[in-house]
Amino acid sequence: MKMDEHRLGFIGFGHMAQILFTAMHAARLVPLSQVQFVQRDRDRMKLNEEKYKITATSIEHAVSTSDVLLLCVRPGQVGPVLQEMARFGASSKQIISILSGIPISFFQKVLGEKAQIVRLMPNVASSIGEGMTTLSFSPHATVEFRSFVHLFSAPLGKYLEIPESQMDLATAVAGSGPGFVFALIQAMADAAEKGGLSHEQALLMASQTFAGAAQLALKEKNITSLLNQITTPGGTTEAGLNIMRQTQMAEHFQETLRASAQRAKQMAEQSRS
Ligand SMILES: NC(=O)c1ccc[n+]([C@@H]2O[C@H](COP(=O)([O-])OP(=O)(O)OC[C@H]3O[C@@H](n4cnc5c(N)ncnc54)[C@H](OP(=O)(O)O)[C@@H]3O)[C@@H](O)[C@H]2O)c1
Repeated sequence: MKMDEHRLGFIGFGHMAQILFTAMHAARLVPLSQVQFVQRDRDRMKLNEEKYKITATSIEHAVSTSDVLLLCVRPGQVGPVLQEMARFGASSKQIISILSGIPISFFQKVLGEKAQIVRLMPNVASSIGEGMTTLSFSPHATVEFRSFVHLFSAPLGKYLEIPESQMDLATAVAGSGPGFVFALIQAMADAAEKGGLSHEQALLMASQTFAGAAQLALKEKNITSLLNQITTPGGTTEAGLNIMRQTQMAEHFQETLRASAQRAKQMAEQSRS
């Protein structure tokens, strides 16, 4: 089947589903007439129909008329939704799950061992085509489904296929990562504002510094060499880096990532019980 022949059903159409839909639509991957969505709140449903020019429907109709189902509810909401999907024939469909912490085995238990599933972990920067997405496929995912998912992921930014055993770590680093970076940008902007800059100036300075440094790191691919270039002995960068070392900032940041990955693991364990 060609990419533009697929029929897509979003099961759950909240914040992240709308980001994925918008990126997919901007890349003109699938005609709007072949995309449907499901959500509970009638008012939001009507608003989204008008805003995105796609049709809202029931889980039954979305499952029976789509060949690819994008599962975009929250992890705590998935149990009854998946049971309902299974009742209407989801076992024979291709499933893209964006749920943090919910393993492929959870879906296989309901949909069968041979179900075609991908865990796709997007991040919020997909909204500007600068996301970092990770993918893990179930063993029975066909070549055709894999290439569909790769085409789907491309407009979101960069993407990597990884073993599912690394998905909790990837969820912490890339899925939740923007949250940690926002907190660091805020800390830098707060310091600049306390020093007398306006709020707008401080936010611009901090955000652009992160964006520029990240672009440079992507281009050079060697952080040690970048650090050496920027750190003049006895200079201003060295003075700051010394405090980062003394206060074990890297270790604290790694602890942040560990806690986040641990939470994803707990969610997987809860889904098994
Ligand atoms: N936000 C992120 O940065 C991020 C990053 C990576 C992965 N994720 C994953 O993305 C998923 C969605 O997150 P989100 O932030 O988009 O959440 P959200 O805004 O709360 O969206 C959840 C959607 O699911 C719908 N829903 C829930 N139960 C339903 C049911 N029984 N039948 C039909 N629709 C139902 C909700 O409908 P109503 O609108 O009617 O309530 C809502 O549209 C989560 O599993 C999360 O782990 C999020």
